[in-house]
Amino acid sequence: MSSVASLDSPAVDAAAASSPAGAAAAGERIDHLAHVFAQYPLEVVSAEGVWLSGARGERVLDLYGGHAVAALGYGHPGWTRALIEQAKGCQFQSNAVPMEVRTRAAQRLIRFAALPLDTVFFVNSGAEANENALKMAFRLTQRPQVIALEHGFHGRTAAAGALTWGAAQKWYGFPRTPFDVGFIPRRDFAALEQVSERTAAVIVEPIQGVGGAFDLGAPYLQALRRRCDETGAVLIFDEVQCGMGRTGYPFAANLYGVTPDMITTAKALGNGLPVAALLMAPRVAAALKLDALGTTFGGGPLACAAVEAVIEALETEGLLERVRRVSGYLRATCLVGPVTAHQGAGWLTGLRTTRPAAQIQAELLTRGILVGTASDPHIVRVLAPYILEEAHVDLLAAALAALPA
Ligand SMILES: Cc1ncc(COP(=O)(O)O)c(C=O)c1O
Repeated sequence: MSSVASLDSPAVDAAAASSPAGAAAAGERIDHLAHVFAQYPLEVVSAEGVWLSGARGERVLDLYGGHAVAALGYGHPGWTRALIEQAKGCQFQSNAVPMEVRTRAAQRLIRFAALPLDTVFFVNSGAEANENALKMAFRLTQRPQVIALEHGFHGRTAAAGALTWGAAQKWYGFPRTPFDVGFIPRRDFAALEQVSERTAAVIVEPIQGVGGAFDLGAPYLQALRRRCDETGAVLIFDEVQCGMGRTGYPFAANLYGVTPDMITTAKALGNGLPVAALLMAPRVAAALKLDALGTTFGGGPLACAAVEAVIEALETEGLLERVRRVSGYLRATCLVGPVTAHQGAGWLTGLRTTRPAAQIQAELLTRGILVGTASDPHIVRVLAPYILEEAHVDLLAAALAALPA
């Protein structure tokens, strides 16, 4: 099917007949959206907790969380209240105007991270956080090259896209990369020799998301940290997907006991309010000066209220412990049907499947369960809301067990 909007809407836009791009078949509604996303056969009209309600009256268990965003699930009272209060109080002022909610969000995020990082720059998206991290690395080192890992994903903007594996073939779209780029294989200790005195930064997802919930592991990340120290390269953890409690720890850096010079994070950070952050170690922050970085919307009061509410919920509702416990239960109970193994951590878990993951995804959706896939065609990606309970996992296990192996 070409469009969710076509599901139940026979109304035809008069402009449809002459529309050059995305022209609709007879009877199909023109939605005027850029058709660049493959669509799930599910039109969501509302959501509550971990459940999505579809336009056809379906009830779907959401184990995908809108690409790892809806960490608190849907309709979380504290998060909703915080946004309403902030919207009533003052919905926006730029970073040039001090606001207490912004300061509180930064302080709360630094405390939550519990790492030797002490400065936050708020932006709007994961790619933008990575672009700014790279700017800081170049400012600090004055070197020409950045190293990334094969199968990594860092975003679609010029710098972040240049470091995203396979982007050139898929959607990079720029004539050249803005700096020298090197890719090294995952978990390959010998290849760390390619990090050199020419390298400004190494950027890595400690657990690759799009790459298939592929965890790099503590020994590799420790070796990478050592190599960056030897060469003076800046180490950036892209925790846009794996950060903010998704592994059951504040960041994967905490899980693995490896401290980078910068962390970028987004997705779960706002639970759906677009917000991202760049966390910097003191030696990086020391290179900041007025106008070194900038943004209009980044650090807006609504975004900061969302960050505060997310961290409040994670800390007061025992959600990190719950992520560890319930995801552990999934790993113990879901090696059934077409699933033969698991990888990743917490709610960035990959289930290895005997048959193509896209098939399993489609079959699960017909049974009322939404999961994700990954660039590894045999990985089903589970990015559940952190409020998920064992009883929900039982539904997944039963659905998987009923599928042909
Ligand atoms: C690890 C990682 N980095 C960066 C990004 C880009 O984030 P955004 O789409 O918010 O720009 C993503 C998005 O999926 C991601 O998973």
